[in-house]
Amino acid sequence: MKKVLYVASEAVPFIKTGGLADVVGSLPKCFPKEYFDVRVIIPKYACMKQEFKDQLHYITNFYMDLNWRQQYVGIFELEYEGIKFYFIDNEEHFSGDKPYYGMPGDLEKFAFFSKAALSILPVIDFRPDIIHCHDWQTGLIPVYLKERFQGSDFYRGIKSVMTIHNLKFQGVWDIKTVKSITGLSDYFFTPDKLEANKDANYLKGGLVYADAITTVSNTYAEEIKTPFYGEGLDGLMQARSNSLRGIVNGIDYDEYNPETDSMIVKNYNAKTFRKEKVKNKTALQEELGLEVNPKAMMLGVVSRLTDQKGFDLIAYMMDELCQDAIQLVVLGTGEEKYENMFRHFAWKYDKKVSANIYYSEAMSHKIYAAADAFLMPSLFEPCGLSQLMSLRYGTVPIVRETGGLKDTVQPYNEFEGNGTGFSFTNYNAHEMLNTIRYAERVYYDRKREWNKIVDRGMAQDYSWKNSAKQYEEMYTWLAGY
Ligand code: ADP
Ligand code: GLC
Repeated sequence: MKKVLYVASEAVPFIKTGGLADVVGSLPKCFPKEYFDVRVIIPKYACMKQEFKDQLHYITNFYMDLNWRQQYVGIFELEYEGIKFYFIDNEEHFSGDKPYYGMPGDLEKFAFFSKAALSILPVIDFRPDIIHCHDWQTGLIPVYLKERFQGSDFYRGIKSVMTIHNLKFQGVWDIKTVKSITGLSDYFFTPDKLEANKDANYLKGGLVYADAITTVSNTYAEEIKTPFYGEGLDGLMQARSNSLRGIVNGIDYDEYNPETDSMIVKNYNAKTFRKEKVKNKTALQEELGLEVNPKAMMLGVVSRLTDQKGFDLIAYMMDELCQDAIQLVVLGTGEEKYENMFRHFAWKYDKKVSANIYYSEAMSHKIYAAADAFLMPSLFEPCGLSQLMSLRYGTVPIVRETGGLKDTVQPYNEFEGNGTGFSFTNYNAHEMLNTIRYAERVYYDRKREWNKIVDRGMAQDYSWKNSAKQYEEMYTWLAGY
């Protein structure tokens, strides 16, 4: 039996700001129980959903030495869908109405969390073979593990994996402050360890000290070795390329299933979508005050509204796009300039554009089910889950060929009669608009062809099945048996 511990800053269904939570909440369930005991540690945020907070069991507490003082570490536990989740409690670090507040507070919070995650292991009597860390928030774990913990028998030989979900976020601050927060000595703050461009960098620490590194698609694994995508760490990614591999994300096929989804108006599957899917569209048109017209092509967007996702291209083309026979439904929150941009166009073209500037799982499912096409012109995209959800719901992705978008959406080729979506190469607003217009022409003029694109999309398998196998192989190899 191999024991694997996931440590991350978010996980569904407890707390989610993006795709990281989907991955950490759904992947652990996908390993065969007879060979793998996979458990998860996340913070016990005050802003976690109340229904889950009510279900947690208190285990114990102790005091841990960090940042020149003794800090309280409470441990809670909940078994959810067969997986043991542990929640680290400390009201000073995890209060507030959102998980992240920016630097330098978050650096203190996640130094505490990382050290606490290691410290509780003997207390909960779980000695993992592998600790699987996710993103910068857990970057100090491989560092602490090698530096402090592996001196004692309990921790000796534990291996660590660092998964990059987004290289843009690294946890960076000046060395002096980070030294005092983490309690790490001068030895660690050199360019071959935690230092990058004269600053201290949590993720870099994780990438230097982890036994293996993964990221969430093959293309992104290649891209981050180049200056454009490497966010200053491309040299390190090249240096560690033997330990770096891409494993594409999956999604939870039970949670995202148009046949059983209780959040959508009309269920459907790969056989019935031609007749039934459109009922979700007209219901949503009615709900959002758009023109109710089953024939109008609806484009969906569900996203964090940030530069990463290509919203400057959309902003640039909005007026022109709105001259076409399309409807656009947006669900998202993020940068104010994009929130206001969509509000503005929803006011200007009120029967065609709907701006839903909030977070709602139910609304996201309705959009995946209702839209004809899903727009995701990202500047960079480590993997992307929204396009996988779209494929599953028979909603044709229109994407830029980067990262996981390139690996999971095959461009439609009208001559060969293959492909699952539409894509363009360059980060260019006109290229995007041309691609959307090409999709419009296929949608309106060659509906049978369109439906075959949907057929092929819905026949793809982006459940965790294949990718979980690749993680299994890696864990087995790392554990040395
Ligand atoms: P990222 O992690 O970069 O934000 P992903 O495509 O990997 O992008 O994952 C985004 C996840 O967050 C998807 O599950 C998507 O449905 C969800 N999501 C994003 N914005 C919202 C929102 N406003 N309401 C509900 N779900 C959202
Ligand atoms: C990050 C990336 C996204 C990826 C997600 C889960 O948030 O931006 O592309 O799908 O992590 O790995």
